[in-house]
Amino acid sequence: GAPIDIDISPVTEGQIVRVFWRGKPIFIRHRTAKEIQSEEAADVGALIDPQPDSARVKPGKAEWLVVYASCTHLGCIPLGHQGDWGGWFCPCHGSQYDASGRVRKGPAPTNLPVPPYEFVDNTKIRIG
Ligand code: FES
Repeated sequence: GAPIDIDISPVTEGQIVRVFWRGKPIFIRHRTAKEIQSEEAADVGALIDPQPDSARVKPGKAEWLVVYASCTHLGCIPLGHQGDWGGWFCPCHGSQYDASGRVRKGPAPTNLPVPPYEFVDNTKIRIG
């Protein structure tokens, strides 16, 4: 599929929007300073799928998280701003993710994957 450009300027801090690319749902989350701080401070070694927050966002753009919107267990769409870590909660079997999209509680085995994307400028990202 062709790349898509998304205007992120209307996405306010704290907001999560969902877009589709290649028929798959993707979350774009405008993270708050508190969320960034807490995800950067997470004990990476204690995670189910250990990955630092810095490996999941673009340098200097930690306020923007872009992840596939399908639970890595069986593909349900997780609900934003829910669960014990405030990231996402999957209503199907209870998996929980943090605001970096990292799985904190199973049965999901892995983090929400980050699709290929880049910043075209400060208000636009290109997925694909
Ligand atoms: Fe999300 Fe099973 S599909 S926990």
